[in-house]
Amino acid sequence: MNKRKLQKFDTLLGHLGRDTKAQRGSVNPPVYRASTILFDTLGEFEQARRDVLGKGRSSYVRYGTQTTFALEDALAALEGAYGAIAVPTGLAAIASTLVAFLARGGHALVADSVYQPTRRICDELLAGFGIETTYYDPLIGAGIAGLMRANTKLVFLESPGSLTFEVQDVPAIAAAAHAAGAVVVMDNTWATPLYFQPRRHGVDISIHSATKYIVGHADAMLGLVLSGEEHYRQVRRAAVLLGHAAAPDDVYLALRGLRTLSVRLDRHQANGLALARWLQTQPRVSRVLHPGLPDDPGHALWRRDFTGASGLFGVVLKPCPRAALAAMLDGLALFGMGVSWGGYESLILPCDPASIRTATAWEDPGPVLRIHAGLEDVGDLIADLEAGFARLESACGDANP
Ligand SMILES: Cc1ncc(COP(=O)(O)O)c(C=O)c1O
Repeated sequence: MNKRKLQKFDTLLGHLGRDTKAQRGSVNPPVYRASTILFDTLGEFEQARRDVLGKGRSSYVRYGTQTTFALEDALAALEGAYGAIAVPTGLAAIASTLVAFLARGGHALVADSVYQPTRRICDELLAGFGIETTYYDPLIGAGIAGLMRANTKLVFLESPGSLTFEVQDVPAIAAAAHAAGAVVVMDNTWATPLYFQPRRHGVDISIHSATKYIVGHADAMLGLVLSGEEHYRQVRRAAVLLGHAAAPDDVYLALRGLRTLSVRLDRHQANGLALARWLQTQPRVSRVLHPGLPDDPGHALWRRDFTGASGLFGVVLKPCPRAALAAMLDGLALFGMGVSWGGYESLILPCDPASIRTATAWEDPGPVLRIHAGLEDVGDLIADLEAGFARLESACGDANP
């Protein structure tokens, strides 16, 4: 069957990135563990060396193996990109992209809601290289035109923000950035290619922490940068210069995770929405941060641009003593406490957006919890949280703030 004719995500996920004949009949591509690639002739060696930044494939394993290319091709096809570049982590994907387009004297506009280590690259590394960053209100929309400068080379989005879940007006921001000649980069980890198609909304370069939903099992780390042909070599050059080579076993785990991405996301979405709706009914909850909820401020934009919601969202509690929060969190049986997300398991993480932001103020006085809805039975998850709220309530006791 001609795989190019297969259009639907669910079908593509099962067929992209594998070539049964080349794999001698086995369903999955093999894992190539290698450092050296051997050539039979000087001509073949020279040919491979001629274009190390193109998709002409490898002269050295740091540029990838057939396993890497299988994953890169699959992801590029899913997002309608010219090419994907696999690097060891999501953060390496972010760093490679920033370094690719920014140089001394350059300026970047970065959403105030962005993943905190992205900020740290800007503030602690790029600033030292003479590159300036301005953080902007994620809800700025077309108003970002007013922040563009002659030296603004890159506009960075993350929608929704993975801590506070504001939905950005991606097409409006992209249009203003392009009018000023800046490249538009978006961290698309939350939605994956299945729920948001960056290129259809004006994004030039999308980034995934494949560590999250693509790997999907909390057992590998990987990053991906996807771009059109006009930006591909520039990103590849930065990734190569920085020495990023994705580990073959991790690449394989990402390819394997990809096969079930759609069915997993269906459940993450359903569980996340069910938990979010239930949390809205809880007296200790101040508000729930989930763009899939009709009363969420980002709902209209989310409905316009996204085709689904993954399982990551936030909840703001009413102010409570730290000991009461600890009583709630310490006793949870199913929700693990830990960073990262996107695996099959449910997670809960206290976070403090107020201490991170610089362009906008975070006004909510109560604690913020980031929740990752895993694949477990949602009734069991609710029961776990319900018992947590009971502990919170009794620890608050008469000391209710
Ligand atoms: C939105 C987002 N982008 C990027 C990253 C970085 O990915 P990695 O942990 O694979 O470096 C994370 C990690 O938590 C994230 O949440």
